[in-house]
Order: sequence, then C-alpha cells, then structure tokens
Amino acid sequence: EDKSIYCASVTAPVNIAVVKYWGKRDPKLNLPTNSSLSVTLSQSDLRTHTTASCSSTYPPPDTLILNGQSEELNNRTLTCLKLLRSMRAELESSDATLPKLSQHPLKVVTANNFPTAAGLASSAAGFAALVYAIAQLYQLPHSPTELSRIARQGSGSACRSLFGGYVAWEGGEKADGSDSLAVQVAPPSHWPGMRALILVVSAAKKGVSSTSGMQQTCTTSALFQHRVKDVVPRVMGQMKEAVEKKDFDKFAEITMRDSNNFHACCLDTTPPIFYMNDVSRAAVRMVEWINEKAGRRVAAYTFDAGPNCVVYYEEGSGREVAGTFKGLLGGAAGWDGERGRAVEAAEEMA
Ligand code: PMV
Repeated sequence: EDKSIYCASVTAPVNIAVVKYWGKRDPKLNLPTNSSLSVTLSQSDLRTHTTASCSSTYPPPDTLILNGQSEELNNRTLTCLKLLRSMRAELESSDATLPKLSQHPLKVVTANNFPTAAGLASSAAGFAALVYAIAQLYQLPHSPTELSRIARQGSGSACRSLFGGYVAWEGGEKADGSDSLAVQVAPPSHWPGMRALILVVSAAKKGVSSTSGMQQTCTTSALFQHRVKDVVPRVMGQMKEAVEKKDFDKFAEITMRDSNNFHACCLDTTPPIFYMNDVSRAAVRMVEWINEKAGRRVAAYTFDAGPNCVVYYEEGSGREVAGTFKGLLGGAAGWDGERGRAVEAAEEMA
C-alpha cells in the first residue's frame, strides 16, 4: 500500500475590487447579480499561505487548520473539496498509473499574515489559496479561469485572486454558472506603477457578513436594482477602458463612485448596514483634500464590507498621497493602537 504523504504549498494574494461584487443571483452556486473588477495586491504584505496534503495514512475526515486553530469545514469549503476531488478522480480514471489521491483524506493548513474577516478580503485570498493548493497537489491541468469556477463557490471574490494584475469576474447569464468566471483584463506589467495604501481602521471581525449583507441588500434596497441594471454594466466597460489606457483620473473617479454607490445601497437596506465609520469618512475627506491640492485625481479610496480604507495611487504620486497620509496620521490620536495604526502597505503590485 502507498503510505506516502503528498504535499503542495502556495501563497495567494488579496484583491481589492474597484467595481464591487455585491449581491447573489444564486446563493447556492455563488452566482453574482453583477460583474466586478479588481486589482490584485502584491503578496509581499498581504497574503494567505496554504499547504494541502493527503495520504492514505491520515485518519478521515478531511481537516482544516486556519491560523493555528482547527476549524469546522463549512459548506463552501466542502463544495470546493468535492469539486476538486472529482476532477482528480477523473484524471485517475483515465490514467491507471496515477496514485489514487482522490481517495485519501486531506489536511489543509492555512494562515493569513493580516486580520481575518475584517473586510481585508481574507476570504478571497483564503479560497484562492485553498483551491490552488489542492489543484497543485492533485496536479490538475486546468487553467486559472477554469479553477476560478471552483474558487467562486468558496467565496465570490476569491475567483479574482487566481490572477495577478487587473481582473474581471464576468458575472455571466447561465443558470448553471458555467459562464461566471474570472479573466485577466491586463497583467501587472501593463500598469506597473499602481500602488495601494491600506489603512487598517479596525482589525476586528466585521459586523455583518458579506453573505447576509448581500441578501439583505438584494431583498430590501430599491437603489440596488438601479445599481445592478444601470450603474455596473456601464462602469464595467469604462473601467476596462481606463485600465487599458492607464487613465488614473478615470480609474480614480469610477473607483470612488462605485465604492460610494455600493455603500449607499447598504445604507438603503432595512435595517441599514453601516460598514464605514467616522475614521473611514475622515480618510475619504483626506483623499478629497489631497486631490484638490494636486488639482487632479492622484488618489482613489475604496471600502469593502468593513471600515478599512484602501487608497490606490500611482508611484509617481507617492509623496503627495502616501506621504500626506503618513505625515498627518503619524502621531494623531485615533490612528494608533487598535483603532488604526495606519498600517501601510504601499507596494508594487505583484
Ligand atoms: O467574496 P465575498 O463573498 O466575501 O464578498 C466580497 C464583497 C466585497 O468585498 C465587498 C466586494 C468585492 O467585489 O470584493
């Protein structure tokens, strides 16, 4: 009997959307109400590291250790494991010389080097790493776009973390989700000067999970219907064009408007959901002030389902943007310790 331990390790990046995914048209398959577009951040500061291993010597069932703690496998994780296993089983059935890894229990050990579930896209990097680690372990020949179909079912935004650079998740129209996939709009080298500053306003777990926030928005906000039908289809095209042309002014305009439109929809639900707080709003004013002083848009803020602020800027504006944030926030109360040591991740994109 084969008693080997098979093993694969990967790291996955965080991605931060500039046109937000918010809303599921099919919660079971994690199909979105709209397409979205994101920038993948450098792995040097925010990343998930995941090791997947399997062996006939492991006692069943499959296990998951997240940041040193043993975790229950939730339904989303079980779905990803099931799909990956069946892809491996298919390979094994067509090639009898392959070891029967699909029959072995799996051990997944994963760690984030940033706060989990604080609106810092931990689920995106987490599920991308999980799917990619197991795909490596199983030596699946599938492309990142094909794997995005699996990662999407773990966490929607995770499908975009399989690519670097500028990534679209095309929402698709089919009921089975076969056309709901991530594609690269441009590689990181296309616009290498793009940088992101991350302001950790709070490292606490978020108040309303994205799944329940989306459900509440879909069922109670009328403004959201306008977002899905009229706003996003228009700005997806505009954002792709801004990326193609490396037009930062346009990129910034759309990014900030889309973040505000998404948070306005959250506010429009019953009861209202507040992800941004006073410190988030101070960051918005700071970006507005920086742009006003520069006489053009050199910085763009965006917020996910939490109070933390991501500011995109171009390398050449580093002094105006990152420098101003650091100078003004360095010693200021409210931006130190728990509530917002202005953690800075000004990095070249991977
Ligand atoms: O991937 P989820 O289910 O955690 O949802 C992410 C939603 C946002 O981060 C708010 C937007 C996005 O497109 O990433």
